[in-house]
Amino acid sequence: VRSETGFTWAGAAKTLTEKPRPMNSNKGKFGHVLVVGGAWGKAGAPSMASLAALRTGAGLVTAGVPESTVGIVAAVAPELMITSLAESQGLLRNLEGGRLEKLMKGITVLAVGPGLGTDGDASEFARELVAKTQVPVVIDADGLNAFVGKTELLKAEWRTLVLTPHPGEMARLAGMTVKEVEADRVGLARRFATEHGLTLVLKGWRTLVAHPDGSVAVNTTGNPSMAKGGSGDILTGIVAAMLAQFPNDVARAVETAVYLHGLAGDFAAHAMDEHTVLATDTVKHLSDAFRYRV
Ligand code: APR
Ligand code: MG
Repeated sequence: VRSETGFTWAGAAKTLTEKPRPMNSNKGKFGHVLVVGGAWGKAGAPSMASLAALRTGAGLVTAGVPESTVGIVAAVAPELMITSLAESQGLLRNLEGGRLEKLMKGITVLAVGPGLGTDGDASEFARELVAKTQVPVVIDADGLNAFVGKTELLKAEWRTLVLTPHPGEMARLAGMTVKEVEADRVGLARRFATEHGLTLVLKGWRTLVAHPDGSVAVNTTGNPSMAKGGSGDILTGIVAAMLAQFPNDVARAVETAVYLHGLAGDFAAHAMDEHTVLATDTVKHLSDAFRYRV
């Protein structure tokens, strides 16, 4: 669906989720998401991303979080699996001596960054993890901050990379001010996506999804009840779970994720009040978003 402005509309991709899951399907068909993030005091971020990935329909979800936060993150849902990351001597240790292979065993989509922090070797850990894995990766929050000044490392080439910056993160990545980002959201998103060969989700009011081929979709869902900490972490989980289920249709998977996230937020704001909605309430309304027919 092309609007007069030449963009596609993200909601048009939603047909992807309208077909029922095959009766004979099993969890192996819907992928295994690994969410890597969390630092002491920021355990909520990977928790929310993991919860959203579970609710979006991923076959399996594992949170890879620092050992000090394991108990907190595990409490988010009994369905969630946990991999404990050693942290006292730095996070990079978790990638050495066969530990990376163990961490990534069976994983079909990696989401890295929510609540990861930038202390110690966290940024280097994020960069190494992205470089050393081959599965589709969603990079958000401190995962994005790890690539500031190093965006050449984000060249996607043969692999699937999805970046989900808010305007501040986008500004840091592109070496611009937030004002400059907001002045030409479409142009910048398109340029960044094509130059790096990746999918860029530029968040905010009317989130954009820019694809490696230069096409850009604009999202029409979402509302100010979502202008609260945690909303972005929820989106990361939804994107990862959509990629896990539709790995061969990256563009539509990401557009659908963005659309569903906003629509769930719209249902939450309708059922509650825009002041009182929390990001986790949005997750409770994902069913309404999935069931909604345009
Ligand atoms: N209309 C529609 N959607 C909105 C609106 C709005 N007015 N406001 C926010 N949203 C949506 C955005 O499109 C995005 O999907 O909510 C989400 C917010 O994502 P983030 O800005 O990443 O917020 P979040 O990560 O949850 O919290 C802020 O980001 O900069 C870091 O460290 C900072 O922890 C902080 C975190
Ligand atoms: Mg964020």
